[in-house]
Amino acid sequence: MTLTATPDSGARLPFDITRIRRDFPILKREIGGVPLVYLDNAATSQKPVQVIAELTRFYRDHNANIHRGVHTLSVESTDLYEGARARIGAFIGATDPHEVVFTRNTTESINLVAHAWGRKFLQAGDEVVVTEIEHHSNIVPWQMLRDERGIVLKYIPMLPDGTLDLDEARRIIGPKTKLLSITAMSNALGTIVPLEVLIPLAKAHGATVLVDGAQSVPHMAVDVRTLGADFLAFSGHKMLGPTGIGVLWGRMALLDAMDPFMGGGDMILNVNMERSTWADVPAKFEAGTPNIADAIGLGAAVDYLSALGMDEVRRHEIEITDYALRRLADVPGVSIFGPMDAQQRGGVVSFELEGIHPHDVGQVLDTHGVAIRTGHHCAQPVMAALNVPATARASFYLYNTTSEVDALASALEATTKFFGMGG
Ligand SMILES: Cc1ncc(COP(=O)(O)O)c(C=O)c1O
Repeated sequence: MTLTATPDSGARLPFDITRIRRDFPILKREIGGVPLVYLDNAATSQKPVQVIAELTRFYRDHNANIHRGVHTLSVESTDLYEGARARIGAFIGATDPHEVVFTRNTTESINLVAHAWGRKFLQAGDEVVVTEIEHHSNIVPWQMLRDERGIVLKYIPMLPDGTLDLDEARRIIGPKTKLLSITAMSNALGTIVPLEVLIPLAKAHGATVLVDGAQSVPHMAVDVRTLGADFLAFSGHKMLGPTGIGVLWGRMALLDAMDPFMGGGDMILNVNMERSTWADVPAKFEAGTPNIADAIGLGAAVDYLSALGMDEVRRHEIEITDYALRRLADVPGVSIFGPMDAQQRGGVVSFELEGIHPHDVGQVLDTHGVAIRTGHHCAQPVMAALNVPATARASFYLYNTTSEVDALASALEATTKFFGMGG
């Protein structure tokens, strides 16, 4: 019996969309008698049979608690869990798998840094720089820290086209900047952030850098050896993995210097009735029984993505996004938000349909089997900057096709007719 999850031979599979779609059973579903067109991938991705099978295999054949046991099942579970950590580390170019800390999701990873690094190393008056296009999970933890510790929170503003104002960034990032905490890609607009400009700027002032990779790690090659950041946060569920598992990657020296986030079992070296000492990284940050099965499932997801190659995933998404930008621009009443160049954005297209509230658009599209997201996308500052209460958002992944974009466009035309708009 092999204990490696879906064996990764390192061989590349051709990017064959028909074969890829066969791996995702949910894509065969019908909604109200019409085929499902799943375009809500920025919220969460679907899962291939390889990941589903790995979860089942773990519970069926290996399930036990990890690290503490000497019995066979516990050793097997530990090997699978730590094996997944090593493969996820390799996927993002980490040189030491111990720099991969398992969390629940991106939100928990950012909160971990705010608690365990921010509360120890930031003082009143220190500046934390974020941007106007962040997801709430990269705003709220810093506002909480500001209210508690008196740090100063600054925002790099968004330009009307959804890109960042880099001149303002150069003015805002300065000697008082202690942390630049920044998304690699906007989940609301798809804007790809020029990290290659902003990270060196922050580094020139000696700042620590956290990258929110929730939308980049699933969709493009990310390598922490060249990224230049100190922390990288991402979620398993947006990259073919299960819900409830995420990652904080951090430089070992920083993780080592931080205090624990939560106290309890598994994160200690010694406990007596007076005091406790901490286990080494990453155990120090993984208090209690971790999400063993889903970490192993994420390992299988990473194997799947690696077999396709992240450059191929990105190439496919540029193709689909470029097609969607052109196709939707032809639909009467549609206005698209964000950069109009597919190279400058990820597979996210936010739009409005003239005179119809995005929630109504989403509901009518559902009757055509088309699943999109509507609302503020946990990015209310972006909505405020666009001066809209909400947008409709279609977001793509490696299994989406141009015919699904056509289905979206036809359903939007039908929505306009349904509401008696468009003359
Ligand atoms: C850019 C970005 N950051 C953070 C998050 C939060 O991710 P999670 O809900 O998995 O913690 C999301 C989720 O949509 C996101 O798109």
